[in-house]
Amino acid sequence: MRIQVPATTANLGPGFDSCGLALSLYLTLDVLEEATEWHVAHDLGEGIPTDATNVIVETALSIAPDLTPHRLQMACDIPAARGLGSSSAAVVAGIELANALANLELTPERKVEIAAEIEGHPDNVAPAVLGNFVVGAKLDGEDFYVRHLFPDCALLAFIPQEALLTSESRGVLPNELAYKEAVKASSIANVMIAALLQNDLELAGKMMERDLWHENYRAKLVPHLAPLRALTKEHGAYAACLSGAGPTILIFAPQEKADDLLSVMKDFDTTASVLSLKVENDGSVTTR
Ligand code: HSE
Repeated sequence: MRIQVPATTANLGPGFDSCGLALSLYLTLDVLEEATEWHVAHDLGEGIPTDATNVIVETALSIAPDLTPHRLQMACDIPAARGLGSSSAAVVAGIELANALANLELTPERKVEIAAEIEGHPDNVAPAVLGNFVVGAKLDGEDFYVRHLFPDCALLAFIPQEALLTSESRGVLPNELAYKEAVKASSIANVMIAALLQNDLELAGKMMERDLWHENYRAKLVPHLAPLRALTKEHGAYAACLSGAGPTILIFAPQEKADDLLSVMKDFDTTASVLSLKVENDGSVTTR
């Protein structure tokens, strides 16, 4: 059995903790034979546990505590701690694992609910389960969300060499936002969503770059955002946004600008990894 879960980018600028888009990088988990203890084989380094303390197994056991241990083989091309939803992918993989091994027959809605409860907000987990673009809200323990197809465009990821932990990146956010500022921030997000629903990436891009919820506070942790935004705009991008909590920057651009943008992004910082991605439409998949 194979479980595959996509990477995700959250926020898209002003859709803080609410908007997310599934991307074409994947965590792949092959479920092998039963064993006396859980073992997760991978080549992702010593920081990622190979036993029952692995997030995937912990998540699965939190849903179905009596699961029989299995040998698992994990591969992951979603870079860790870069704002591309690697931890959400692991949580969703754990939910899929419990679902498959314990025959829980969880609906996609229930998977999103469980994952959002674990992650605290739905922005990464909802598109990781459902695919494509999801706008969600978690209100008093209840989840509300809408999945919609993202307009066609090039998606270019600038992934710095240095990791940035979500906890650090959330640690610089204010506890409160003045009422007038919040109204303005919300109106920017509203126009972005409405423009995306009309496939108007020119307008959506303008709003994506005018977030007032989080990017300004995070600027000191991601000093490459402002110059990269200016540079990519010069070369025809719709927008450059912090991907999730960063440090990755995701560039939205017309397809015909992609090659030129990839080359200027590579020149901007030769130590960073620059990838051309696609929207993943299907979300998490389990095949037997
Ligand atoms: N919306 C979240 C953030 C994504 O920006 O902190 C990471 O969990």
